[in-house]
Amino acid sequence: MSKFSDDYHDYVFKNGKLLGQFDDMYRHSKEVPWHQDKTANSLFVDLDIAILKHFLPEFNIRSICDLGCGLGYVSARLHSEISPLVAELNITGIDVSTEAAAQACLLHPHINFFGVNILHDDISSWERKFDLLYVKDVLWYVAQDAKLFFSKAKTLLKRGGGALPAAIRAG
Ligand SMILES: C[S@@+](CC[C@H](N)C(=O)[O-])C[C@H]1O[C@@H](n2cnc3c(N)ncnc32)[C@H](O)[C@@H]1O
Repeated sequence: MSKFSDDYHDYVFKNGKLLGQFDDMYRHSKEVPWHQDKTANSLFVDLDIAILKHFLPEFNIRSICDLGCGLGYVSARLHSEISPLVAELNITGIDVSTEAAAQACLLHPHINFFGVNILHDDISSWERKFDLLYVKDVLWYVAQDAKLFFSKAKTLLKRGGGALPAAIRAG
């Protein structure tokens, strides 16, 4: 019998403490963790996309980073719904789990995904900078380092990219 649980919850929190074993979770979970394939089509994402579409012309948004993208289902939705409206739109997904990023590349080969730990990797010299960061259902896992999270996330924005800070939706 495998020593690995196939229940994704077992890799996330234990006794109220964050385990954060996201690579093993994405490797061994029998379900899609957090049912990302289904929640990508939820009303919340519908609303996010509607808000984003509203602000697109005003803020000249051409590049979006889906931070903590998991398997990239929302990144793919952003790509299919926003790219018809913006010439050469760039959508990039990053996730602490290189396993999630690798699976996302296979699922959505038209999008770039990278394994990046927003808290601990040195991203200050990363050439990729974005007009907008989209963060969905990630803050739970970085909450104990919230200040660090926001200061590191900010370095992913182009100069002036902070024009739409409300786009970092709480969740
Ligand atoms: C609940 S999932 C949300 C996935 C996706 N945003 C969605 O809504 O479908 C949370 C994701 O945050 C990622 N994550 C947690 N800590 C992270 C960190 N420090 N840097 C980057 N990603 C992180 C996890 O690997 C996981 O894929």
